[in-house]
Amino acid sequence: MEKSSPSSQESAQKEFAYFEGQFVPMAEANISIKTHAFLYGTAIFEGIRGYWVPEEKSICIFRMKEHYERMIQNSNIFFLTPEQSLDELMAITVELVKRNAPQTDTYIRPTLFKTGENITPKLDNTVTDFCLWTAPLGQYVDTSKGLQVCTSSWRRVDDNAIPPRAKAAGSYMNSALIVTDARRMGFDDAIVLNADGTVSEGSAMNLFLVRNGRLITPGKTENILEGITRDSVITIAKQEFGIETDERVVDRTELYMADEAFFCGTGAQVAPVTCIDNRDVGDGTVGEITRKIQQFYFEVVKNKHAQYQDWCVMVPIDSKVSV
Ligand SMILES: Cc1ncc(COP(=O)(O)O)c(C=O)c1O
Repeated sequence: MEKSSPSSQESAQKEFAYFEGQFVPMAEANISIKTHAFLYGTAIFEGIRGYWVPEEKSICIFRMKEHYERMIQNSNIFFLTPEQSLDELMAITVELVKRNAPQTDTYIRPTLFKTGENITPKLDNTVTDFCLWTAPLGQYVDTSKGLQVCTSSWRRVDDNAIPPRAKAAGSYMNSALIVTDARRMGFDDAIVLNADGTVSEGSAMNLFLVRNGRLITPGKTENILEGITRDSVITIAKQEFGIETDERVVDRTELYMADEAFFCGTGAQVAPVTCIDNRDVGDGTVGEITRKIQQFYFEVVKNKHAQYQDWCVMVPIDSKVSV
């Protein structure tokens, strides 16, 4: 296996992580190869974005509260309840961002994981820990051009197998198969179907279609992650543009009859999809509704609209604390 490059080692030396109840240099935040979460994927995580707002010399952490609320709700499924309260988790996050003092768009990765070393996948007899790190993150997928995607030959994990409603580390083996095969076939990503052939979501993002001026997105019982960006999109579409969303079962062939399509997620942000299974979506260019929601979203995440300031936690960035 490849070792990390000198540059990633170098940046790791300058970063802090939160690990075993304290802030430590990133290089010291290590787990044993016997760790339960490593052996069985028994962890749940969040992906939060912090957007750099240069004119305010601040990082805008977007919808942090909702991410931690989801994590706490998810934790109940897997006996992964954190010791820390919602407020404590948010305070730790703000403190880590201050210490790492990024001056670029940043990914914030909290994880609740089973830290015991017992050899059984059982969830309720092993200790839960919380860790957190940050890293620079630009585009996860290209949001400027339209993505060319396929429907995956893999099926989405089911709620009664490994519930995708939880952001469970182990279930990302499903996402890994979906995105890897799509990329190897030359597509940018893939849409995954449920076992019954209806549409679920992307490999690590939710999916929206536009038909006749309305948004359509698979409902919350379609083996999707209940995306926070999905919620932001539904809210912005309605409040800013008067566009309603139908959350419902979506057939595969509706993908080919849509006027527009886009992915959304913390990583993906709002990413237009212009080709599905080698068929143009609409006229094959980025749609008007997609573009206006995307543009507005990129302003909201940088706290440019007062009506959405509750979604933004502004963290002033001073000079970096040395490790
Ligand atoms: C499988 C999956 N679906 C959807 C999403 C979008 O969720 P959110 O908008 O909360 O980031 C993600 C994560 O980004 C994901 O991993």
